[in-house]
Amino acid sequence: MKRLANGSKHTVTIEKIVYHGWGLAKIEGLTVFIPHTLPGDTVDIEITGKKKRYVMGTKLSTHKNSEFRENSQCQHFPQCGGCQLIDVPYSKQLKLKEAILRDCFDSQFKDLNSKLSHIVPSPDATYYRNKMDFAFAQDNNGLYFGLKERGKYDKIVKISNCQLMSADSMSICQTLCKELTQTPLSAWDYESCSGDLRHASIRHSKAHNQYMLTLIVGTECISTLKPILKKVTTQHPELISVHTIINTSPGDNLYGLTAEPLSGQSHIHEKLDLQEFKISPLSFFQTNSKGAERLYEETRKAAQLQADDRVLDLYCGTGTIGLSMAPHVKQVIGIEENPSATEDAAQNADLNNISNIEFRTGRVKNILKFENLSADVVVVDPPRSGLVPKALRRTAELKAPRLVYVSCNPVTLCRDLKDFHQLGYDIEEIVGIDMFPNTYHIETVTRLKLRD
Ligand SMILES: C[S@@+](CC[C@H](N)C(=O)[O-])C[C@H]1O[C@@H](n2cnc3c(N)ncnc32)[C@H](O)[C@@H]1O
Repeated sequence: MKRLANGSKHTVTIEKIVYHGWGLAKIEGLTVFIPHTLPGDTVDIEITGKKKRYVMGTKLSTHKNSEFRENSQCQHFPQCGGCQLIDVPYSKQLKLKEAILRDCFDSQFKDLNSKLSHIVPSPDATYYRNKMDFAFAQDNNGLYFGLKERGKYDKIVKISNCQLMSADSMSICQTLCKELTQTPLSAWDYESCSGDLRHASIRHSKAHNQYMLTLIVGTECISTLKPILKKVTTQHPELISVHTIINTSPGDNLYGLTAEPLSGQSHIHEKLDLQEFKISPLSFFQTNSKGAERLYEETRKAAQLQADDRVLDLYCGTGTIGLSMAPHVKQVIGIEENPSATEDAAQNADLNNISNIEFRTGRVKNILKFENLSADVVVVDPPRSGLVPKALRRTAELKAPRLVYVSCNPVTLCRDLKDFHQLGYDIEEIVGIDMFPNTYHIETVTRLKLRD
């Protein structure tokens, strides 16, 4: 451990990829995690942080490149923090994602490894996103927009051609930025927590080719923005919905804030399979529309739906999972804490002529405590942090014969599956779904069954 002092330099070969997309190497038996490396890379590193059981390293230079790597087609790689694996061909990315899942299961809940059946690829590996949040920044050449630099929270890389979202989204943001340059508005500064322009959040309905733009600003500058946005919508008629959100707090979390309509419609529509969905600026909606169709198909399969089933869709967002199940079952109840999402969810039910679904607004742990609910199938699709202990316990206490856990974070998945197992559920099968090509992220659908 002495030789591994902070600042010491070493040459290592990466053994495997682990969660966060970090490479793992060993020095004198001690684990070193090195961001931005892949299995087979031989790199010079500097030790930059020490923990009880591992150390962190920073890559300094590369001696030999991993077989996984090829030339990246993206002009912003590797400076941009948006994609970690865009220099790996897609079929090999899927192998790396499976390895990340297996490593996570091995280190946290070994039994899960035999339950992982396969990984479902994303239908599209580029231009698959329906939403991007670009940050504003400025340098000596003026205002620009982009994504966070790799490993930095306060530096923004200028982006002119992002391969995750349509060329038209880039074009709308470029027109917007050009017009904003003519105003005295400044970009948000993360150090002083001041400035006018924070983010441009752009959403694209793939099915209807409609765009929604939400400008997140740090000051009350709407009168300056109005004429600018009029010019942008005139130039881009496909931009049919524009909002602003004022966020003066240091963090970027928008929970509890209000989206003020500036022009056009209050929402856009997207289609998943044969169903229509209304999306408002603050509602969660899966960011890969075609990938979401596969995710929901796997979720329906795992639920083994029967015509007289009563389904509980916990953390239901705009109701997409429950609505995709409703035509196959007797009744669905969705629970979601964001009122804007449940409002959209109820309208989505009407839009699709579905009358056997209801929605409750509130935290899962509270609704399960105060309402006497029961179900044949429970679906949970929580945020990255997973289920809080009370929500997990109350979900298990429903004693639904079938439980499906949709997760975007294998670490919290392992933690929660251990608890569900202890509370009476067997884990039957896990399917990986790639919703985020070119990044290390991987979604999973787990089928659980109540023990007799
Ligand atoms: C990963 S999203 C899933 C949404 C939906 N199932 C879908 O596929 O679009 C998680 C959702 O849980 C909601 N949420 C977060 N914490 C919650 C809580 N404690 N109770 C209820 N909903 C919550 C978020 O607002 C978000 O809509």
